[in-house]
Amino acid sequence: MFALGIDIGGTSIKGGIVNNKGKLFDTFKMPVTKDENQDKTVKKLIRLVKRFLKEYHYKNEDIIGVGCGVPGIIDSTNGIVTFSGNLKWHNFALKRVLEEGLGFPVKITNDANAAALAEAKYGSGSKYKSFLMVTLGTGIGSGIFVDGKLYEGNLGKGAEFGHSLLVMDGRQCACGRKGCLEAYASATALVKDTRAMMEFHKDSLLWKVSEELGSVNARVPFIAAREGDKYAIELVDMYVKYLSEGLINYFNTFRPEAVILSGGIAEEGEFLISKIRNYCQTHDYGLKMCPSVDIVKSSVGYDSGKIGAAALFFD
Ligand code: BGC
Repeated sequence: MFALGIDIGGTSIKGGIVNNKGKLFDTFKMPVTKDENQDKTVKKLIRLVKRFLKEYHYKNEDIIGVGCGVPGIIDSTNGIVTFSGNLKWHNFALKRVLEEGLGFPVKITNDANAAALAEAKYGSGSKYKSFLMVTLGTGIGSGIFVDGKLYEGNLGKGAEFGHSLLVMDGRQCACGRKGCLEAYASATALVKDTRAMMEFHKDSLLWKVSEELGSVNARVPFIAAREGDKYAIELVDMYVKYLSEGLINYFNTFRPEAVILSGGIAEEGEFLISKIRNYCQTHDYGLKMCPSVDIVKSSVGYDSGKIGAAALFFD
């Protein structure tokens, strides 16, 4: 039994064929830009999916449906993208447009909820009843599992950990508010901070690493910090503080059994996670004198968005 899982992100749309055991087969990817109109982007996606299915010889009867994870406020019952700050999509009847364009049943959900579903069914989340999944990418997404069930909030519009407040009247966030965790601890924010640090410190190793990687991306500060560059270490320490303070807020609201980190930044693995653990363990009302919270990396990893979106049909 196969479903097609589509993960719509801030910079690309990724998709693939997934079976009911969570195994990913053939995949596709296309770039997105938030300056493009939502209808135009989805028309391109429909054309690509049709070409993809033909090229890999999938027949319509092989696929039970198309699951789609989308960043932002999603009305999963009616299949509508109410608002996506990182894509600039508004009131978009995505389910209807995809069903008409592709001829398969379509289910949509928030992208991080999809990732959390994959983690719960097939990954690190399967051993916990209550966990928070945090995706660290263009934005900060979250999926909340409580007592073994995905908690989406009223009308599916909750679980937006990235938009909890970290700094009153702080940095502008894509959602319209100021000071959200996402404006400090997403990959986008880390890249901005890295650029700013580079401007002030022309002698930093950050310059050489960016040149070698061909761009200033979120890996740059971690690579330079591992090499001992003091400016990069400062960036990583600040990043750890932002994210950990955000997590501690969550611990004190829900005290989950675990936090599972995914997305590009989570690929830094133990180098990053041990610092987050240490920060939380040494701060009151973090993990100090309170029940512990496992902080681990997603085991489904890069593909969790696609696999979880497809799993909407296997749930
Ligand atoms: C959105 C979330 C989404 C996350 C990751 C945030 O800006 O509000 O809904 O899950 O980005 O894409």
